[in-house]
Amino acid sequence: MRTQVAIIGAGPAGLLLSHLLHLNGIDSIVLESRSQAEIEATIRAGVLEQGTMDILKNAGVGARMQAEGALHHGIELAFDGRRHRIDLSELTGKAITVYPQHEVIKDLVAARQAAQGQLLFEVSEVELHGIDTVTPTVGFTHQGAATRIEADFVIGCDGYHGVTRPAMPLQGRQDYQRTYGFGWFGILVESAPSSNELIYAQHQRGFALVSTRTPTVQRLYFQCDPADHVDNWSDDRIWGELHARLENNDGWRVNEGRIFQKNIIGMRSFVSTPMQSGRLFLAGDAAHIVPPTGAKGMNLAVSDVHLLAQGLEQFYHQGQEDRLHGYTAAALKRIWRAEYFSWWMTSLLHNFTDASLFQREMQRAELECVVSSRAMATALAENYVGAF
Ligand code: FAD
Ligand code: DHB
Repeated sequence: MRTQVAIIGAGPAGLLLSHLLHLNGIDSIVLESRSQAEIEATIRAGVLEQGTMDILKNAGVGARMQAEGALHHGIELAFDGRRHRIDLSELTGKAITVYPQHEVIKDLVAARQAAQGQLLFEVSEVELHGIDTVTPTVGFTHQGAATRIEADFVIGCDGYHGVTRPAMPLQGRQDYQRTYGFGWFGILVESAPSSNELIYAQHQRGFALVSTRTPTVQRLYFQCDPADHVDNWSDDRIWGELHARLENNDGWRVNEGRIFQKNIIGMRSFVSTPMQSGRLFLAGDAAHIVPPTGAKGMNLAVSDVHLLAQGLEQFYHQGQEDRLHGYTAAALKRIWRAEYFSWWMTSLLHNFTDASLFQREMQRAELECVVSSRAMATALAENYVGAF
């Protein structure tokens, strides 16, 4: 098989890149290790920045997002039994949309399939060769047959556990990493939203987050031990924990309902540089991870491939490579800003078991500053909506 751009991974990064290239008349093949049903059912992110919405809209894949997504003009911070609204739109002129990642995936898969794009599911044994040449190849197995793609470029969009980052030469690599001693327990609940806007709650028992999915489904999270197991958490225990962490003085309570999905995710901050070597480029979670508190992961994946698509377009249509050469530097500006914000939101809102009494008071004082100082609230809002 021959194509211009071989893309590994059909997450938001890989699918959107393939679609953006198609709009520019550039051919690609996407290889995905899971099935279409699986990628369309995996529950992950929910919050899209305005910049992400604009990119999806301009690429012609935003119709369902605009019709079914919920535009949010603010978020709430809850602590010490009180809730405080951060008015994102008033402070920044921008908003966010809650529209699930797997719906974005469905929209992108539908667009690629409608355009007869080559999207191969359930591939295995993906191997990269010759990335330091102008004719890299990708070997893989599909439907029992060993196959090979010859391409001009290989783009690694295969997430944190993929094969493309390990294929980068070790010389000159620098990784940056921080792990947190906690994770998030996430549930999906059949019930009406408890709140019109997301609530990020700090409590001595640990962080909790109230989010939504649809008018009949809520998405709730609470800080947990990353080594814990969902089977240790009965529905009653979960509700007890959520009520304790979200209790407040105005009588507001989270709506209970049937819990139909439970999962635990670990939290880390991670950046691997450079994001390119020869004809191999990395995008999205393959190159960097943020803890989910700032809701930045999918938005970064989208902004990476937006940059890459511009670089590839310049390469193919103008015969110039400066945008491709500058990809890592351009992408990292945004990535480090999002890393900073996600680390800061995580530090502000979670319980750190090793925190001294002094550090706990500093955390509470910082929360008071954010909700009482317009300058600090504006900084949070600008970072949250992605106005950078
Ligand atoms: P992925 O979505 O991980 O896609 C990679 C794809 O590559 C996968 O489909 C995988 O199967 C495939 N793959 C892996 N290895 C191979 C291989 N060897 N060969 C072929 N294919 C392979 N982000 C936000 O922006 N906002 C949020 O609100 C938010 N909330 C989150 C909540 C949770 C609970 C979690 C877990 C994440 C959240 N994120 C959020 C982060 C976001 O989901 C990720 O950052 C995003 O999925 C990254 O997209 P990606 O395309 O880079 O990688
Ligand atoms: C959701 C996830 C996040 O990481 C976040 O910060 C806000 C909302 C969600 O899945 O709805």
